[in-house]
Amino acid sequence: MRVLVTGGAGYIGSHMVKRLLQSNIDVTILDDMSAGVVNEQHSAFLIRGRTDDVLLLKKIFTMARYDAVIHFAGSTSVSESVVSPEKYFYNNFTASLALLNTAVECGVKKFIFSSTAAIFGSPIYIPINESHPSSPINAYGESKLMLEWALKRFEVAHGVRWVSLRYFNAAGADPQGELGEQHEPETHLIPLALRATYSADQNLTIYGTDYDTPDGTCIRDYVHVCDLCEAHILSLDHLIRGGSSQSYNLGNGEGYSVLDIIRTVENVTGQLAHVKYGPRRPGDPSRLVADSSKIREELGWKPLYDLDAIISHAWAWECRGI
Ligand code: UFG
Repeated sequence: MRVLVTGGAGYIGSHMVKRLLQSNIDVTILDDMSAGVVNEQHSAFLIRGRTDDVLLLKKIFTMARYDAVIHFAGSTSVSESVVSPEKYFYNNFTASLALLNTAVECGVKKFIFSSTAAIFGSPIYIPINESHPSSPINAYGESKLMLEWALKRFEVAHGVRWVSLRYFNAAGADPQGELGEQHEPETHLIPLALRATYSADQNLTIYGTDYDTPDGTCIRDYVHVCDLCEAHILSLDHLIRGGSSQSYNLGNGEGYSVLDIIRTVENVTGQLAHVKYGPRRPGDPSRLVADSSKIREELGWKPLYDLDAIISHAWAWECRGI
């Protein structure tokens, strides 16, 4: 089997490539390296390029027969999407549509898409299942939801079969310590909280303490990057065996506040985090917790890692650079 992994040099994509290679699946990575890191340790073929480069895509799809596309490439910061919506609509929708369209034209009709909890906006109930209305409150969520709509239409018109995986908060790192989160600049809570324990000049700002939550800080559902990868493996297997198109919410089903994360970071590292309090960050909903029973029941997904393991693996990765 051969798959094209867009964004395969990025945070989640690189873990996915490692996992696919462990299953002896041939992998080609398409990554523009805007946020990616070259991994010398694995045998995947890396092509530097963008998903809107239709000529390049046609070459890729005609040089070998691909069974599926796993599409990670995109822009991922909620706060950036508030100030630069054009970047999000272009990268996450327009460029993704070019990829989808070219894949279909070249006969590649199985598509696994990295979607997000941000498509739900501010939830009207928790935990959030797949029947929850989609009402994004930022361009990031809107741009991802637009591709979900395109997938549905492409199925009817062109016979594409797809799985859309709505990640809640992806976190953690490869338990073997080969891969981890490396965003530039880093905006995610767990790596920033870890850095705030050992670097005196890296304070963590807590964005908002007046949310309608027990301690006033935002609640999120943190899910280990390797558990997300297992969900992709199950989804690929499902599509290859002729399974129907599906959307699945992916989280551990447990909500943790920003202060819970800081406490766990302090326990794992044995050091206090330097924190300060700031205003709310625009675009942040107060609570996001997943109901993932659909993928557990239909595909047998079982996340292995709890919050302690997520933060311990992220800490081990962070320590490599200290
Ligand atoms: N936070 C802080 N200080 C920081 C960084 C984050 O208080 O320096 C808070 C945020 O306000 C939020 C929580 O920590 O309440 C988590 O923030 P992250 O930036 O780590 O993650 P997000 O929840 O913003 O984003 C994640 C994914 C997105 C996904 C989104 C769903 O990165 O891809 O969840 O809203 F879409």
